[in-house]
Amino acid sequence: MHDHPSAEKLQLSHAQMRALGYQVVDMIIDHYEHISELSLAQKADRTTLEQRLHEPLPEQGSDIAQVLQQVQRDIFAQSMPLDHPRFFAFIPSPSNFVSVMADALTSGFNPFVGSWKVGPGPAEVELVVIDWLRQLCALPEGAGGLCVSGGSVATLTALTTARHMKLHSDIRKAVIYCSDQTHSAVDRALKLLGFSAEQLHKFRADRHFRLPLAELQEAIARDRAAGKLPFCVIANAGTTNTGAIDPLVEIAEICQAEDLWLHIDAAHGGAAVLSEAGSALLPGLDQADSLVLDPHKWLFQPFEIGCVITRQSRWLRETFSVLPEFLRDVAGVEEEVNFRDYGIQLTRSARALKLWMSLKVFGLSAFRQAVTRGIKLAEYTQEHLQQAGCWEIITPAQLGIITFRYIHDSQFSGDLNLLNQQIVEAMLKDGFAFLTSTVLRGQTVLRLCTINPRTTEMDIRETLQRLERFGRAVSS
Ligand SMILES: Cc1ncc(COP(=O)(O)O)c(C=O)c1O
Repeated sequence: MHDHPSAEKLQLSHAQMRALGYQVVDMIIDHYEHISELSLAQKADRTTLEQRLHEPLPEQGSDIAQVLQQVQRDIFAQSMPLDHPRFFAFIPSPSNFVSVMADALTSGFNPFVGSWKVGPGPAEVELVVIDWLRQLCALPEGAGGLCVSGGSVATLTALTTARHMKLHSDIRKAVIYCSDQTHSAVDRALKLLGFSAEQLHKFRADRHFRLPLAELQEAIARDRAAGKLPFCVIANAGTTNTGAIDPLVEIAEICQAEDLWLHIDAAHGGAAVLSEAGSALLPGLDQADSLVLDPHKWLFQPFEIGCVITRQSRWLRETFSVLPEFLRDVAGVEEEVNFRDYGIQLTRSARALKLWMSLKVFGLSAFRQAVTRGIKLAEYTQEHLQQAGCWEIITPAQLGIITFRYIHDSQFSGDLNLLNQQIVEAMLKDGFAFLTSTVLRGQTVLRLCTINPRTTEMDIRETLQRLERFGRAVSS
C-alpha cells in the first residue's frame, strides 16, 4: 500500500488512488445513465480544440480533479458516443459496463499475453473465448485464432495467412475475388500485402448487393486460361452498406472445386448466429478457411477487439512464428500457446477478458436477446417507413441494417440525391440522432443500423418523424 504519494515513482497515495478510482467509475456510470440525453450534433472544430488542448509539454504536474474535468469537457464531450441509443451510423458500438470494467482490470493488472509462460491465465481465457466463437460459427475443432484490435487487423492477419499458405512467396500472378460491397479493410490489407489493385477482381454486386456467382465462375476460368492464379474469394456475411450476405454455401462449393481460399468477412454479421433469424441466414459460415468477427461491433464490447479464426489454428502459427534468441527461454511446449506466434503483435494485452467476463455475467441468452432485438428494430423501422408513404425502401431490414430514401410524393421533380443529403445534414445540425447516407447504385440513400439493445421503439419513431419533417422542409 502506498501511503505517501511519490511523483518521481509515478505513485499516488492509497487515498488518492481510491478517490481517483471512484471518480472515474462515477464518470463512466454517469455516461451510461445519461447517454440518451446527450446531443449527437457535430462536435467542436479543429481550431476550437487546438485552443483548448494544444499546450506546451507539462513539465510540472497538476491537480487530478482539474485534469479529470478537462478529460470530461474537452475530450469525451467532444467525442461522438457510438453507444448512444440513437447513434445509427456506420456499425455502432453499443458496449456494456461489465466489459468496461474488465478493460479497467486488464489495464490495471497489465498482463502480457504474448508468451504462455508469462501470462498463462489470460492466454487460456483467450483460447476459451476463441473456441466459443468457433463453436458459434460451427467451425470444426482444430480451428483457432486470436483477438486483435479490430476488423481491419483481423482481415490483414487472415489474408497474410491465406497468402502464406496458398502462394508462399510468389504473388505476382495471384487474383483475389470479391464484390464491390466488400469493406475497404480488404483493399487496405491487400495493398499492405503487396498485391496491386488489378489483382483484386471486384464484381458489381447483384440486385440484392451480393457477389454474382456466374460471373465469379467465368472470371476464374478466364483468369486461369490467361495464365493467372486464382487464389482467394472474399465473401461477406453482412456488408456494412446494407447487411447483405453473399451466397456463402455456393461460394464455398466453388472454392472447394477450384482449390481457392475462402475468407469470410463476418465482422458485423457473424454475431447474428446468436439469433434464430440471423442464424438461418448464415449457412456456409462454417466453410471459411479464415473468418473475421468483431466483438466490438455486435457483441457489445468496447473498442478494441476483433477476432480472426482460421480453419486450422496451425496455419496462423506457420505464417507468423519467428523465434528470436531472447524468447527461447519462454518458447514452451506444444500445448502452451504463445499468441505472439499467431499474429503480428508480440506485446499484447488481455483483450479477450472483456468478452469472457461479459458472457459469464450476462450469459449467452442475454446476448441472443440483444442481437435478436437489433434485427427486430430494423424490421420495426421498415414497417414505420412503409406506413408513412413518403419513403422508398432501398434495401429491406437485414442483419439490423436498413436503407431508404425520402421521395416526398409522386409529384416531386427535384434532385432526390441532393434532397436526401440535405436531410442527413439537417439531422447532423439537430443532434437528436446520428445517421449517415451511403450511395447504392448511384443513389444517395439514408441508412440506419439498429443494433444497440438500449434503443427504444420510441427512439426509432421520433427519429423517423424528425427525418420526415426535415424531408418536408427541404423539399418545399
Ligand atoms: C464488414 C466490415 N468489415 C471490416 C470492418 C473493419 O473493422 P474495424 O473498423 O474494426 O477495423 C468493418 C468496420 O465497420 C466492417 O463493417
